Amino acid sequence: MVEYLPPFYRIKMVEPVHLIPQSERELALKRAHYNLFNLTSEEIFIDLLTDSGTGAMSHNQWASMMQADESYANAKSFTRFKEVIEMSTGMGEILPTHQGRAAENILFGHLLKDKKQAMVVSNQSFDTTIGHILYNEAIPVDIVIEEGKSPSFIHPFKGNMNIQKLEDVLLSNSDQVEIITLVVTNNAGGGQPVSMDNIKKVSEIAKKYNKYFFLDIARGIENAYFIQEREAEYQNYSLSEIFRKMCGYADGVWMSAKKDAYVNIGGFIALHDSELANKLRERLILFEGFPSYGGLAGRDLEAIATGLEEALTTDTVKQRINQVDYLVNELDAIGIPVVLPSGGHAAFIDAKEFLPHIPVEEFPAQALSCELYLRGGIRSVEIGSLMFGTHENGKFIPASNELLRLTIPRRTYEKGHLDYIVSIFKEIIPIKSSLQGLKITEEPELLRHFSCKLDLSNSELKIKSL
Ligand code: F0G
Repeated sequence: MVEYLPPFYRIKMVEPVHLIPQSERELALKRAHYNLFNLTSEEIFIDLLTDSGTGAMSHNQWASMMQADESYANAKSFTRFKEVIEMSTGMGEILPTHQGRAAENILFGHLLKDKKQAMVVSNQSFDTTIGHILYNEAIPVDIVIEEGKSPSFIHPFKGNMNIQKLEDVLLSNSDQVEIITLVVTNNAGGGQPVSMDNIKKVSEIAKKYNKYFFLDIARGIENAYFIQEREAEYQNYSLSEIFRKMCGYADGVWMSAKKDAYVNIGGFIALHDSELANKLRERLILFEGFPSYGGLAGRDLEAIATGLEEALTTDTVKQRINQVDYLVNELDAIGIPVVLPSGGHAAFIDAKEFLPHIPVEEFPAQALSCELYLRGGIRSVEIGSLMFGTHENGKFIPASNELLRLTIPRRTYEKGHLDYIVSIFKEIIPIKSSLQGLKITEEPELLRHFSCKLDLSNSELKIKSL
């Protein structure tokens, strides 16, 4: 049993949510073409689609927003933003961006320009990162350790990169490899952390082969917490010391601040090399804005600075990870196959294991997400073949896993919400074999899960009445 820690905050403002009737949820799901991104937020009771930009800010964050300087160039708020990020990462060149994928656009757009068939080697790039790599006609190569691909295998750092494979890729494709990245924590693989030891080893190899090494630190503070908890050498280090040490191994980092900086919008790139930073600034002005605001308002820069400081110096992250751990353990206790050990930001369910009658071509995790919405008004997100599956010469290549992610927004839901989610799963267990697979009826070229349309794989069958 995981003891649920009391939150280290009290609530000052609330936002009512409603559970619309089940008959309306059925209609909404059909109108949304079985893609939960197409639902409106009023149609949702508990929204676990993402932890990105969906958390609650602290009173200090709101207060610093009120004091923001909105000058176009070199506002006081930028100076503060820069100082906090310099202090946290140990890097001196700071470029604000409007969110994580904007940082990817600036970074990959520059580093991969005119380099056809370049490779970006990662433990496991997330969807927008893959989108930007492909957009720049490069090749994403994911080499997470084998243990990281097995949902039930217990390993403290399932986000680690396979060091041997990294050497092999570099030995055989040294000219092609342009960038090495580590996503900390590994979102696509279950929010699993990467150890300091692994970060260090990857950095040594990157240096040996003279390759850029970047960290995607969207959830880097959660990763630092796992290092403190699970890597004996670091248990007496503070979170901010660990975070800075992680960043210290890389040439640069990029962050979607919508996650571990506890804000609704924002991001940045931080790096050491001022020559490269100036090149990136040329693109920044073109795509984001003047380098001291990069697509953000002064108040956003303030909220990020305060959010980062708080996440690094308080028990906020500890309580958040406890909440996720609690949900994972409650689901595990009723026999739901979850990714273990629990990761940082979400409970991940192994839908292939839970719904063995639905073939991967019919997206079992998406089928489960539809049922969860129908029964409980809960919105979750598929992290499986709908998101990562591809076709090669007409052949379907599935993702390595069919996961359903129940993503916990920060400081937003309480124990009662988590218990409600578990109770809906209890209802699904006895009828799970009646769930139907889905087929895609319309899809865009890139990042299809955001906007594709689906239908029941056997559309002759009507949607089951609960
Ligand atoms: N990197 C990681 C590891 C991410 O999880 C995300 C976004 C991004 C980069 C892109 O950042 O959204 O600010 O442009 N992940 C969200 C999610 C969307 O739901 O996991 P962004």
